[in-house]
Amino acid sequence: MSELKFDRWRLPFEEALMAHNLAGFSPAGLYEPIDYFMNLGGKRLRPIVCLAAAEQCGASLSQAMGAALAIEWFHNFSLVHDDIMDRAPLRRGKPTIHERNGLAAGVLCGDRMLVQSYVFLAQCPSSALPVLLNRFNQAAAEVCDGQQLDMDFEQRSLVEAHEYIEMIRLKTAVLLGFALEAGALCAGWSNQQSAPLYRFGEQLGIAFQIKDDWLDAFGDPSQTGKQPGGDVLARKKTWLWIQAQKEAGITLAELDTLDDSERVKRSLGLFRDLDLPARSMDLALFHKQKALDSLSLLSKTAGPSPFFIEFADYLLGREF
Ligand code: IPE
Ligand code: IPE
Ligand code: MG
Ligand code: MG
Ligand code: MG
Repeated sequence: MSELKFDRWRLPFEEALMAHNLAGFSPAGLYEPIDYFMNLGGKRLRPIVCLAAAEQCGASLSQAMGAALAIEWFHNFSLVHDDIMDRAPLRRGKPTIHERNGLAAGVLCGDRMLVQSYVFLAQCPSSALPVLLNRFNQAAAEVCDGQQLDMDFEQRSLVEAHEYIEMIRLKTAVLLGFALEAGALCAGWSNQQSAPLYRFGEQLGIAFQIKDDWLDAFGDPSQTGKQPGGDVLARKKTWLWIQAQKEAGITLAELDTLDDSERVKRSLGLFRDLDLPARSMDLALFHKQKALDSLSLLSKTAGPSPFFIEFADYLLGREF
């Protein structure tokens, strides 16, 4: 997707985000780090796709803006707590909240951001609110489930590929699914009508997280804004790791004898030797295709429009 098309939804979204920010609120110890984090310049993918889906389904941008804001605030809350859980020093190229302001600030800022997501959800069209609330809660609970599985897997030496897919479906994909579904619900579509959009987002979200794991290992840190090899250091059971373990017998115990930079070097070297960068992208493409297939179930009014295809291409082609 070209930047120009992005801007059609990104610019009004950024404007709304700015108009309803928490800058200058008191106590500053809580609101200053929140404002810092919200201004680090995320890609805003979820609100963009929510607003675009809403338009495709016949809503105005303003009808879906509450949902778009709720989703972006929820996403940012999840990142603040994720960075604590993943011991991540950097986010979007800048220090994470717990690094910058301490652990307690990271916990409380995240809590407050979660509350803020409900403030915005409450602004959705009242006729759609009961179902939106129900679906949002479902997705939010599943993100927590996925995050716990991600943590559990750090402690396990063996994880199967299908368990990894289910874990990333929960921690990442359901929110992208909800972003699309929410756009349709704000346009007055029923649960049933919007289901193919949810499934599109869910399968695309799986592909998106596979690419995120690829970027963690092989991306340019000056573009990703994250610590290089962070997943290896945090003992994450990514598909890259699971496959390397299966095919080359690499073990956590073996890596424990190495210092951090050797550990990353050895793991990434092995991933490359096994051609896993390309093979993991094949897996991502498989899920992208499943996503596109689900669009054939959409009613004629919503697609499959070029937007969804271009959005899917963009997500997998991105460098950060
Ligand atoms: C990062 O999401 C977290 C994942 C689910 C992989 P994004 O890559 O969308 O993060 P920002 O908001 O653009 O920084
Ligand atoms: C994040 O997955 C998923 C959620 C925040 C729910 P990652 O831990 O891989 O995301 P990054 O790489 O830190 O953005
Ligand atoms: Mg994580
Ligand atoms: Mg993380
Ligand atoms: Mg990651």
